Amino acid sequence: MRILDNKNILVGISGSIAAYKAADLISKLKSYGANVKAIMTSSANQFVTVTTLESLSDNEVIHENGKSKISNFAHLDLAKWADILVIAPCTANLMNKIANGVGDDLLTTICLAFNKKLFVVPAMNPDMWTNKFTQSSVEKLEMNNINIIGPEYGKHACGDTGYGRMSSTEYIIEQLENFQSQKILSGMKFLVTAGPTREPLDPVRFLSNYSSGKMGYAIALVAKQLGAEVNLISGPTSLDKPDGIDTTYVETSDEMRIAVYEKILSAQVFISTAAISDYHPVRYSKSKYKKSTDRLTIEFERGTDILQTVAEQNSDIFTVGFAAETENLISNAREKLRSKKIDMIIANIANYEKNLGFGSDYNKVTVISDDESVDEIDSSRKIDIAYRILKTIHKKYFKTKKRLKNNA
Ligand SMILES: Cc1cc2nc3c(=O)[nH]c(=O)nc-3n(C[C@H](O)[C@H](O)[C@H](O)COP(=O)(O)O)c2cc1C
Repeated sequence: MRILDNKNILVGISGSIAAYKAADLISKLKSYGANVKAIMTSSANQFVTVTTLESLSDNEVIHENGKSKISNFAHLDLAKWADILVIAPCTANLMNKIANGVGDDLLTTICLAFNKKLFVVPAMNPDMWTNKFTQSSVEKLEMNNINIIGPEYGKHACGDTGYGRMSSTEYIIEQLENFQSQKILSGMKFLVTAGPTREPLDPVRFLSNYSSGKMGYAIALVAKQLGAEVNLISGPTSLDKPDGIDTTYVETSDEMRIAVYEKILSAQVFISTAAISDYHPVRYSKSKYKKSTDRLTIEFERGTDILQTVAEQNSDIFTVGFAAETENLISNAREKLRSKKIDMIIANIANYEKNLGFGSDYNKVTVISDDESVDEIDSSRKIDIAYRILKTIHKKYFKTKKRLKNNA
């Protein structure tokens, strides 16, 4: 039996140049056994014809410019009918409306009435995607358990290059199937750390780094969506608490260590995404350092390597680390994997200036497992990277003896 067999899927189509791709999506969903209905915004009509979508979906297409009168309760009926609502392509306009609870046409009203799984597949010009209102909508949608698929990086019809291209039909279907077939991580317990730490030097200063916590929060969020029970330990970030995830807030590397040791025994997988300070000051100055001398020397000492200690002391826990390197990415990451005796390392070039990794919504990583297999994930949104990493962890975890020990 196929995963989408007999699922009722409502495909929302909005006024994007990518609307023609909805035809392919509808056609493939039908071939996967799904019952498909399509609904168009009034501007979508300019980009793709009703006749095409009706022929492919084998159902009447619902659209406000249509000849036939739509029933008064169509928004409620369709919201009840659909198991999945996928909006592909979703314009910036529509995404901003959904994120703000606007219901001023049939599709947005269905979104308000729909209480099952909503997927949004953005398609827009790169500047529209990076626009601050659009980005704030992305955050709102994700925090409210609405899955955003893509967008991809590439050249656009307008000639610009950047993020905003609609994801491929294959990737969209993979995500829908995954949601149906999963929860692949159901029954598993994950401990994830995220964000930077702060090592106080005096009452007003600290040593820290550029980590925003976005990668770790994305991993925690996706792990939960895939069915895992997730504990998140977060250093100081400006991110909102992820919905439904048990989150502990810490400040220093020492607090991070204590929190990890407290929670680790109930975890099967430990993902150390936090950028924990390797060093802390030998002496904390109770009074503020004065600018009375030209030079100031502060002595630092190495702190505990939390990930390595967890790996050494808990051989039954699947341990995953991140290696943010500025050079020799793969060889340095492999060395860390070996010396820390962990199961997997995610290597990325940390370059704050180039807007990749630290602080950014995007990353480009290489996943290296202890069996030396390497998976390169090209520049993508951190939420998509999180998904790929978790799928690899799932595959590897079930191959290791750790699972057997945990289930013994
Ligand atoms: C030729 C053309 C192409 C467009 N492509 C997009 C697009 O890809 N993404 C987008 O967000 N808006 C795009 N727009 C703008 C939307 O069509 C416009 O914001 C519209 O009001 C969206 O309505 P809807 O969200 O109700 O479908 C395009 C407009 C034109 C004229």
